[in-house]
Amino acid sequence: MSGFDLSPFLSRLLAPSSPSGCSPVCESIHEFAEAMGHAIDAKDRCTHFHSTQVAVLAQAVARFMGFSPLEAGCIHIAGHLHDIGKIGVPDAVLQKRGPLTEGEFAAIRRHPVIGHQIVSPITSLNGSTGIADMVLHHHERWDGRGYPHGLAGTAIPAGARVLAVADSFSAMTQQRPYRKGMGVRAALDEVEREAGSQFAPDVAEAFLRLAAPLLRDGAEPGASAFIERVERRFAG
Ligand SMILES: [Fe+2]
Ligand SMILES: [Fe+2]
Repeated sequence: MSGFDLSPFLSRLLAPSSPSGCSPVCESIHEFAEAMGHAIDAKDRCTHFHSTQVAVLAQAVARFMGFSPLEAGCIHIAGHLHDIGKIGVPDAVLQKRGPLTEGEFAAIRRHPVIGHQIVSPITSLNGSTGIADMVLHHHERWDGRGYPHGLAGTAIPAGARVLAVADSFSAMTQQRPYRKGMGVRAALDEVEREAGSQFAPDVAEAFLRLAAPLLRDGAEPGASAFIERVERRFAG
């Protein structure tokens, strides 16, 4: 349903071959991606665990939507790597507290292209897994007002549409020097409001449906606790 076209070679490469559910090559790619995600998150203590959160949420939403385990695994890896291009953005810009100048904003908006340049030489992340393209397009918007290419609707790669929702949810709920992190319910309300404009409607709807039973009982969990519940219930 996702339009992925995994070559038979790559399917074999990534296919489960052990009780842990992943071939050694697949696990190495995953560990590499996770390490790169930790590296980029370490540049800014406010984005601690952001890449991991995006990886976990995006994989869960993908599985909930009916993507195959293999496709969802590729989306998980893309989640770890999505912001790797921030390595090419000066720290002074990334961590600036005040309003950004035009030039600084442009520097930040280059990170998906830089990320694509970093990961695309790796065969397993390019081509039919679509991981490099997910990195390139994770800031596109459903209404075409995103970047870097201004793609709209289903022209945006399916995995990138999933990443966009997971990325925004994680970013909204994380604390920043200039604002408090949003509560889980408030962030979900925002996902609902932006369905059909920022976010693909089917992805936003899947995320809300996935989240609802996890919030039914008791007090509203913090974002980290909520994401742990999502991981326990849906990922894999
Ligand atoms: Fe991971
Ligand atoms: Fe990003």
